Amino acid sequence: MFHLFKRTRSDLEREEAFELMPDNVPKHVAIIMDGNGRWAKGRGLPRIAGHHAGMKAVKRVTIAADEIGVEVLTLYAFSTENWKRPRDEVDFLMKLPQEFLSIELDELVEKNVRVRMTGWKEGLPAHTLEAVEKAIERTKHNTGLILNFALNYGSRHEIVQTVRDIASEVRQGELKQEDISEELISNRLLTGALPDPDLIIRTSGEIRISNFLLWQMAYSELWFTDIYWPEFTERHLVQAVCEYQRRARRYGGL
Ligand code: IPE
Ligand code: IPE
Ligand code: MG
Repeated sequence: MFHLFKRTRSDLEREEAFELMPDNVPKHVAIIMDGNGRWAKGRGLPRIAGHHAGMKAVKRVTIAADEIGVEVLTLYAFSTENWKRPRDEVDFLMKLPQEFLSIELDELVEKNVRVRMTGWKEGLPAHTLEAVEKAIERTKHNTGLILNFALNYGSRHEIVQTVRDIASEVRQGELKQEDISEELISNRLLTGALPDPDLIIRTSGEIRISNFLLWQMAYSELWFTDIYWPEFTERHLVQAVCEYQRRARRYGGL
């Protein structure tokens, strides 16, 4: 587990003095993986080549997150708004989970990773959903890193759906209005029992949230980088975590 610590210490400390404290690693890291299209454009390649290259970054970052002791890694892979993109691009994106998992699932199983999904199954093509469900099923008894794909996910829609469910239970007398609490709402969101993200990373230079985990990020630390997602490496993850470790999380206190 401390392999990467060692590697990052020896390789990176020389350059940038990244020093991770093993006892203050964010439990839940969530990443808005952005910039695939611009990365490709900058190389004269079609946008889909950027998405393909982004898959390699997913692999690198998953392994690194596991090695530094992150417990949950949520990756924003496709938003409910991304359906607005050209059909060809959407079709390509929907093939990626299948491709990624056909190559990586065995290793994920071996590394004790649990695959999860946060998002709406409805609307996903059958081949996409089957690949993800197979990975969830095959890894469900694992006990290591939770690799959570936010796929067909949008936070406002999630909140609307949750409010509707709660309202219906109140109307039917299954839930008392006064029992609606922050904890209850948290548990009813798609992220359910997962802890709130401690650290949210966005690549590509955009400084926005794009409808990601709005409720859950109430006290998340945010880290933005200009790096495009296909260029994001273990080193950037370690850099983000080091910066996270230097911050004082006050939660409104002193
Ligand atoms: C992120 O890269 C991947 C998804 C949103 C699916 P983009 O495709 O948004 O790349 P840019 O932002 O256009 O460069
Ligand atoms: C956010 O990126 C969604 C994902 C990374 C899946 P977008 O590229 O869709 O976000 P906007 O459109 O720039 O806000
Ligand atoms: Mg983008």
